[in-house]
This record gives sequence, C-alpha cells and structure tokens, in this order.
Amino acid sequence: MPLKIFGRKKKEKEEDKNMAEEEEREEEREEEHEIEPEEISIEFTENSLGIDLGTMNTVVARPMEEEFKIKQFPSVVAVKKGTNKVLAIGEEARKMLGRTPEDIIAVRPLRHGVIESVEYAKFIVQHAIEVGSDNDPSSIERVAVGVPGDATEVEREAIKEATAEVGISKDNVIVINEALAAAIGSGLPIAEPDGTMIVDAGAGSTDVAVISLGGITDQETMRIGGDDIDRNIVELVEEEYNVRIGIHEAEKAKIEVGMVFTETEDIEVKEIEVIGKDMTTNKPKQITIDSELVARAAEPVVQDIVRAINRILDRIPSELVSGIYENTVLVGGTSMMRGFRARIEEETDIPARLADDPLTVVAKGAAIVAAEPRTLEPEVRLRALR
Ligand SMILES: Nc1ncnc2c1ncn2[C@@H]1O[C@H](COP(=O)(O)OP(=O)(O)OP(=O)(O)O)[C@@H](O)[C@H]1O
Ligand SMILES: [Mg+2]
Repeated sequence: MPLKIFGRKKKEKEEDKNMAEEEEREEEREEEHEIEPEEISIEFTENSLGIDLGTMNTVVARPMEEEFKIKQFPSVVAVKKGTNKVLAIGEEARKMLGRTPEDIIAVRPLRHGVIESVEYAKFIVQHAIEVGSDNDPSSIERVAVGVPGDATEVEREAIKEATAEVGISKDNVIVINEALAAAIGSGLPIAEPDGTMIVDAGAGSTDVAVISLGGITDQETMRIGGDDIDRNIVELVEEEYNVRIGIHEAEKAKIEVGMVFTETEDIEVKEIEVIGKDMTTNKPKQITIDSELVARAAEPVVQDIVRAINRILDRIPSELVSGIYENTVLVGGTSMMRGFRARIEEETDIPARLADDPLTVVAKGAAIVAAEPRTLEPEVRLRALR
C-alpha cells in the first residue's frame, strides 16, 4: 500500500463539505491552474534510504513494503592515529571514547549538530549506507540526508561527496533540513497553510521550526542539547560530592532517573548509584544521583529551549498561531525526558505532543523524501492543498 502524505487531510475536508459543491469548485480550480489535482502517494521502494546524521546517533530508515526498516548506531569513528585507517564505527567506537590507547583515536565527527570533521563524517555516511542497505549499497538509488537548518554549503557538499564514494550519484542525494524531515516523518500536515511546529531536542543541537505550505517559515537552531545536560550532571556531582564521574555514567543516570522541573505533572523521584573518582583520595567512590539533581542539570537547557519557542511565538504572524496550537510535535532524544513536554506546555501555552518515535522520525521523513522527492516541490504541495 502506498503511503499517502497529503491525501488524508484532503479527504477529511471533503467529508465535511457538501460533495456536489466541492466538485464544482474543484472543476473551477482545475480550469484556473490547468493541472490535475492528484493525491501524492508514495510507492514504498526499497531502493531509497533516509539518513539522520546526528551528533550522538546516526539513524537510517529504508522503506520496506508498508513500513520502515530502521538501523542505528552511535556517530563515532575510531581510527589508527596518524592514518585514515578506520578501526571501528558505531557502538564499538563509542565505547572507546575517552578511553583509547595512544595509537587509536575515537572521534565524534559532529559537534553540536555541525560537521566538525568532514573526513570522519564521510565514514559515518558511508557506514550508514552500508548498514541501511544490508551491505549492498548498489541496491540503493536515492538517499536523503537530514542536516541542521544552518548547515553550510561545504557541509552539504561533503555529504554528497561521501555518498558518491559508495557509488550513489550526487544527483540522487538530497540534503534536507532535518526539522522538515522530522515534520514529514511525524505525519504533520506540512502542506497546510495553517502552520505546524517542530521542536527537535537532540544531543548537540536543538531546532525549533515553523512550517507552513511545506516550507520552513521560521527556525532557530541552538547549539545545546542532551550533551550539555550530561556535562552539567558531571559538574554538579563534582561540586556536591567532590567525586568526578564519567560522561557515560552521567548520561545513564539522566536516561534512567532524569526529569525536568514541572508544576503540572507528578513525577516520581528516582535514584541511581554511580561510581566515580573521589577527587580527594583519588579512589573509586559510589554516590547516589537522584531525579532532582538531573532536573537541576537540565534546567539551563530547558530554559534556553523555552526561550527560543517564545521568541518564535513573538515573531510569527497570527495566521499561524492556531495551526501551531494544534500541531506542535516534540522529537529528539532529549524531548523524552520526563516532564519535558509538560514544561513546554506550561511555559508556552502550546499543547505540544511527543512524537511516537522521537529518535527515528527524522530518518523516516528523509526516507519519504528519498522515495518521493516531489514531496518537496512547491507545485505539488500547493496542489495537495486543494
Ligand atoms: N529516555 C531518554 N531520556 C532523556 N534523554 C534521552 C533519552 N534517550 C536518549 N536521550 C538523549 O537524547 C540525545 C540523543 O538524541 P538524538 O538521537 O535525537 O540526538 P542526535 O540526533 O544524535 O543529535 P543532534 O540532533 O543534536 O545532532 C542524547 O543526549 C541522549 O542522552
Ligand atoms: Mg538529531
């Protein structure tokens, strides 16, 4: 069954109205524009791939029959020092971060959502295509890669070059704003003129984007995210217990017991024990981290995100307010923190909803665009409105 992107909304509208009247209007519009109205439907072709090149995780989605086959791995490359010889990519390389012997370096090619090392990012893109195609890159014809809204031309070109190196022609590589991909992947009615909003709170960056008529009308990209929360946890623990914990431990504590301060949602306070280094004795020491400490660590990040949303609300025209009120979706791993959604609602008065699959929507949206690039064409979007 083809996946309908723009069809649903139109159908709903038709049911609400007098059919005969609608048909008459449809005919008038057809004459006016001389184009056949058409439901854009996507045949799920296995020869396309969507890639979300994230600071922390790379996610690959491949349309398979009626759903997506999802693969993901940490965006980390380990290479032999002084060479370009790749020793490991993904989980194995992630474990090496901060722990490598002298002759190995483990790198996260993306920092704060930006490609910091083009050379290493290429390895990630190529690995994504290999993993996503079940080790058969020649079976892939078209790839769409989600990048932050403010990605530079050099970064976009680097992604195209990397895919070209595994045999996919540059013309068949689409580089797409990841906020738009997230909106498409979470099924938001992006083609409508009413406006929708996406908040993508990731590891290294957070995007707030307003979309209307299928394009981005306003966007703020901030270089903050879950990574900063992890670092704040390390700092708070050291201040309070004089114990230094590793960043992996901090992240684990955040995921297992973390929360965001909220007044409207009752959140159970939990505790987790972690081991760090006592800075007085230099010996290992066990300490307890609770949800409240994580909430304090998350607070500066949450406040920045809230401020960005409110700045956008200050700027947007009133025509877009009701659409945003009805259709704001939170995506990205950081949005999964307990209380995050409630806090956004408290501070912005927008009843946001958390995406069903906050970690994979960008890749899925990109896969839809790869399967049907016309999704992005203005004529198609406008036609879908009718
Ligand atoms: N259940 C959870 N609770 C809180 N944080 C989580 C949870 N699951 C994942 N995270 C955090 O989400 C972040 C990863 O999210 P995501 O995969 O969306 O980021 P990314 O796309 O790699 O980064 P970016 O978009 O900034 O480039 C990490 O900081 C991770 O610790
Ligand atoms: Mg992301």
